[in-house]
Amino acid sequence: MNEQINLPINDNLPLGATKLSNDDLEGLIPDYITKRGDLDEFEKTNITKAITWLRKKNFIYDEILTIGFVFELHKYMFNKTWTWAGQLRKRMVNIGNTPTELIQIRIKNVLDNVKYWVENKTYPIDEICIRLHHELVWIHPFPNGNGRFSRIICDELRRSLGGTYFTWGNTNGNLINPTESRKAYIEALRLADSRNYSRLLEFALSVK
Ligand SMILES: Nc1ncnc2c1ncn2[C@@H]1O[C@H](COP(=O)(O)OP(=O)(O)OP(=O)(O)O)[C@@H](O)[C@H]1O
Ligand SMILES: [Mg+2]
Repeated sequence: MNEQINLPINDNLPLGATKLSNDDLEGLIPDYITKRGDLDEFEKTNITKAITWLRKKNFIYDEILTIGFVFELHKYMFNKTWTWAGQLRKRMVNIGNTPTELIQIRIKNVLDNVKYWVENKTYPIDEICIRLHHELVWIHPFPNGNGRFSRIICDELRRSLGGTYFTWGNTNGNLINPTESRKAYIEALRLADSRNYSRLLEFALSVK
């Protein structure tokens, strides 16, 4: 396990990406992987399997908006890649400042709020989905994969409410590479940090 500690996996991280700690890296299952690009590809295959599982299950919105689903989805997305898939982070990160002991209760609050918004039509459906996405990346529940997990749960909620997956600037949610779309996405998230969701919503719906 020790040789994994010096892997160059944190080199050239794209804008807004969370650095993996040495402890997190100890949970890497395919231990022959040393490069970020190879890790991205491996994770992509893992995530594709999770999407196949989602398609089969066709969850309804109040099944999606549960803490059990949150853990299960992250686990399905990363269970071949990380031993800690589906488990909460145990260290602080530089997004959101949520203390580790409050992560679970904050997620629960968000899910309850979103359920209330859906049932009472508090906001338009697309805005509800985008708020869910932002709230979850802000809490940053897991050591890694928070962006991809939070985009998929947001897309799944939208599907369960009669829509399709967002296009996320024509990337279909694949925003891990340092492209113009990634830049636009991170800038929109930063605006959403101050509770202005318009640019994030516009970005999620955009196809260029
Ligand atoms: N200012 C911000 N406010 C809210 N969320 C943010 C902000 N900056 C970055 N993020 C989110 O954090 C994610 C990075 O966290 P993490 O590395 O855990 O996720 P990931 O799925 O591995 O994402 P990625 O590979 O895209 O970096 C970004 O994809 C983005 O969704
Ligand atoms: Mg990451």
